[in-house]
Amino acid sequence: MDLSRSAVLVLVVAVFRLCASAKDQLAVGEKLLAGQSLVSDGGAFALGYFSPDDAAGPARRYLGIWYNGIPGPRTVIWVANRDAPAAGAPTLALASDSRLVLSDADGLVLWNTTGVGSSSSQTAPAELGNDGNLLIQLLDGTVVWQSFDHPTDTFVPGMKMRLSYRTGKGDRIVSWRSPGDPAPGRFSYGLDPSTSQQLLMWNGTRPYWRTPIWRSYAVISMYVSAGTVIYTAIVRTDEEISMVITVSDGAAPTRCVVTSSGRFQLLSWNGTVSAWATLQSWPSSGCSTYSGCGAYGYCDVTAACRCLDGFEPASAAEWSAGRFEQGCRRKQALPPCGGIGIGFVAMPGMKVPDKFSIDSTNRSAGECAARCAATCSCVAYAYANVQSSSTDGQLIKCVVWAEELVDAQMMDARWGGETLYLRVPVAAASTVPVLALPNTGRNSSRRGVKTALPVLSSVLLLTCILFVWFWRFRAKGRKAESQYENTNTSSKIRADHNGDLEFPSIRFADIVAATDNFSKTLMVGRGGFGMVYKGTLDGGQVVAVKRLSKDSDQGAEEFKNEAILIAKLQHRNLVRLLGCCTEGAEKLLIYEYLPNKGLNAILFGTYNV
Ligand SMILES: *[C@@H]1O[C@H](CO)[C@@H](O)[C@H](O)[C@H]1NC(C)=O
Ligand SMILES: *[C@@H]1O[C@H](CO)[C@@H](O)[C@H](O)[C@H]1NC(C)=O
Ligand SMILES: *[C@@H]1O[C@H](CO)[C@@H](O)[C@H](O)[C@H]1NC(C)=O
Ligand SMILES: *[C@@H]1O[C@H](CO)[C@@H](O)[C@H](O)[C@H]1NC(C)=O
Ligand SMILES: *[C@@H]1O[C@H](CO)[C@@H](O)[C@H](O)[C@H]1NC(C)=O
Repeated sequence: MDLSRSAVLVLVVAVFRLCASAKDQLAVGEKLLAGQSLVSDGGAFALGYFSPDDAAGPARRYLGIWYNGIPGPRTVIWVANRDAPAAGAPTLALASDSRLVLSDADGLVLWNTTGVGSSSSQTAPAELGNDGNLLIQLLDGTVVWQSFDHPTDTFVPGMKMRLSYRTGKGDRIVSWRSPGDPAPGRFSYGLDPSTSQQLLMWNGTRPYWRTPIWRSYAVISMYVSAGTVIYTAIVRTDEEISMVITVSDGAAPTRCVVTSSGRFQLLSWNGTVSAWATLQSWPSSGCSTYSGCGAYGYCDVTAACRCLDGFEPASAAEWSAGRFEQGCRRKQALPPCGGIGIGFVAMPGMKVPDKFSIDSTNRSAGECAARCAATCSCVAYAYANVQSSSTDGQLIKCVVWAEELVDAQMMDARWGGETLYLRVPVAAASTVPVLALPNTGRNSSRRGVKTALPVLSSVLLLTCILFVWFWRFRAKGRKAESQYENTNTSSKIRADHNGDLEFPSIRFADIVAATDNFSKTLMVGRGGFGMVYKGTLDGGQVVAVKRLSKDSDQGAEEFKNEAILIAKLQHRNLVRLLGCCTEGAEKLLIYEYLPNKGLNAILFGTYNV
């Protein structure tokens, strides 16, 4: 009697809970009817039917996934039947062969997923995850289909944007046709299959905007606010390269979208004002669109078109009228090929032009220059921190250009950029600093000697300056090791006798003291890579301490090498790496702390690991 009463009670409670909390699953044979929806366990996302707000004419209904937890207009992240809206009341059902089928009122199939082929009693209920992923699985956990593999115009944390090295095929997100029409629009965004080194946005089939090329270390953390850190990582395996976005636990909703008007935007939900804050939006100006300044032109930091050093507008009249399609041409023709009488002019801080090739052999900077000089078709080179394929351990590569230089841009100093070396005639040295090369061939003409002599003397002068600077630097560096006053941080990073950079190891005990033993109240960010704490060193310097997850299986030596690599590259980042600390399983990176947590800090602040 008692037993059956409690059984009834359990049943009642179960039924009550089933009714009270929205479902997140759709079982085989079940139907999701018009007006019904699935809500993820956690409540962040909903799957259901919607009509775009400004839909004209007869109602068009789509099956989609949107943010459930935020107020205001519905923000849709995924649409099933973009091409085939339903006129009447649609129905979604999960077939026993694990296919999701969306049909209209007349039973006509509008959209379906690929199943396992034959009817299977092994199909688990389809489930909407709290990350916004609609998942079809077998009972044994095999994933048959997931909406994250079929994105529409939005990229959310947890999704992967992939490019296969073997097939050259990659994922793309495709804009809506207009804000009221989810049908595929003109603009798409994805990894560049021809270089696997950058991301591209296309207008139709033409490139419309291009990211700067990636460096080898490709995890960028963006500090949005206390509690929200966004990590963007480029992950390479032997088979594919992929981009993922991760956010710290408890972070505000974050999404990337390619809009129908041709912008790629990163947005974060601001609960205070109940609106999406656009953190970044590209292209940032008219001249930063793909080849917006024509061949041999570039877009400068004030968003004006200019010609690369050694070049002038192909048509002055067109140029001054604001039409840049014709681009620029050389001021002075290059001497006949042979390596003599040419030099290179350096343009630092550039988003380097497109259509490059990466030299797979291991070359030094000098060898890279020599190779370009000796190759008649080579118009420019860069010695850049890129990675050509899967991890081959070689980080700095020789990048060369043999075609028209298109889509260069001068980057704002806080974004870094590469130094582009342009091939120019030596005579151009009167107006621009030229790094002339010693004659690379056996031809030792008088002209070659003439070029080499001033070069040799400047090299000597440079060596002297470096030597003096080095010597002072080392003395300073030693002093700085034992104390942490807020002095010029770069002085704490010193070069060892091999010319490799080495930076101070900060004692673990000091970090423990600085962060109040990693106090929760001092935690400013958290994510898959570790946690970030705010700390105050003994001397009063406020720092950000990134404590890497203990379960990362990276060895202490590798970690140190990685930290040294970051130090070498740190001029590219506004947030400076001050030091590192390894002790036992602990791996910590110590950065300058960002005092200003406003939107500006978000944009400029990157903690790189
Ligand atoms: C249903 O899926 C199959 C393959 O999975 C596809 O060939 C077919 O076009 C789909 N039908 C509709 C209406 O989407
Ligand atoms: C995209 O390309 C089309 C066709 O070439 C063109 O008419 C349109 O202006 C382009 N859109 C933008 C934003 O450049
Ligand atoms: C939300 O926006 C307000 C006003 O722009 C700003 O002051 C606040 O810092 C923002 N909050 C977050 C978490 O970004
Ligand atoms: C590349 O060359 C440098 C020195 O020339 C050497 O230290 C390094 O190990 C080489 N890397 C590879 C992958 O061969
Ligand atoms: C040396 O000069 C000759 C004639 O001036 C030219 O044909 C040859 O290609 C040059 N060799 C190299 C290696 O530059």
